[in-house]
Amino acid sequence: MADTKFVPRVFSGIQPSGGLTLGNYLGAIKRFVEMQEGEFETIFCMVDQHAITVRQDPAVLADATRELCAGFMAAGLDPEKSILFNQSRVPEHAQLAWVFNCVARMGWLNRMTQWKDKAGKNQENASVGLFAYPCLMAADILVYHATHVPVGMDQKQHLELTRDIAAKFNHDYGVDFFPLTEPVIGGAATRVMSLRDGSQKMSKSDPSDMSRINMTDDADAIAKKIRKAKTDADALPSEFAGLENRPEARNLVCVYAALADMNVDDAFADIGGRGFGEFKPMLAELAVEKLAPISAEMSRLMRDPSAIDAILAAGAGRARDIAGPILRDAHEIVGFAG
Ligand code: TRP
Repeated sequence: MADTKFVPRVFSGIQPSGGLTLGNYLGAIKRFVEMQEGEFETIFCMVDQHAITVRQDPAVLADATRELCAGFMAAGLDPEKSILFNQSRVPEHAQLAWVFNCVARMGWLNRMTQWKDKAGKNQENASVGLFAYPCLMAADILVYHATHVPVGMDQKQHLELTRDIAAKFNHDYGVDFFPLTEPVIGGAATRVMSLRDGSQKMSKSDPSDMSRINMTDDADAIAKKIRKAKTDADALPSEFAGLENRPEARNLVCVYAALADMNVDDAFADIGGRGFGEFKPMLAELAVEKLAPISAEMSRLMRDPSAIDAILAAGAGRARDIAGPILRDAHEIVGFAG
């Protein structure tokens, strides 16, 4: 249970590192929209400071930040209801991250699997920022006293570290100041796989564009990619359990269910027993119906970058109104004078 003394508040972030896919949409953004319509105050951040933990081309980074914001809004995030902004415009994140750098232990960060994966064998040459990445992520969340954080399975360890940092801060300073944030992980297609290889995650960095559906793909591209998606020769089974060793078929079924807002068992009432000659056109039609309007709206929004910048600036102002007082209290607890 999340702590009841805190306002129910959702925070999540996505790196603007270019190219939003169906995986980002179904795994994250679609769930953000659902949470926006619920009981929560919702804050969604384009984490450009996390992006530069590995090399980014400056012009590409700025455009990718605007494109991510366009993707958020096209998918249904409303800047009146949710706070949308980019991290670098709210300096309180980096300021609290410094305090957390002094709370977290080297050993904790050394155990992070994302650090080990991204730094690889060449840790000596990785940036200090990549190592300290989880402290900034904890600050993103805790500078708002956020109680719930929707993330993919791959971020679970970072959320546990966020709780460890909150608990150690509270313990070391003898306060009950930071909440122990709950991860929110789940949904029919939290992990969307490549259309060419059901054992690989759908990724913007896969060399084959046919392996993914981009949020900017138009109706023809979406339909073609689904038509050409890899499958096997058998018809679909009558229930989900029958897909166990059929990763490509399983992925397409999960995507269908997620786009149709159904759980997989209910989806089988429509699709169980059908061959791919029937199922793929059904999936293509559904995907075009749900995704083509989003990509059209994204390109409309991207035609006016200054309007997006104005939305980011307004969101940053609202974010600072919440983060400022919390950072001030944290500084006082730590013993910073003034
Ligand atoms: N690390 C997250 C990812 O790569 C992005 C992120 C940064 C984030 N700060 C966050 C997610 C705070 C949730 C909450 O997906």
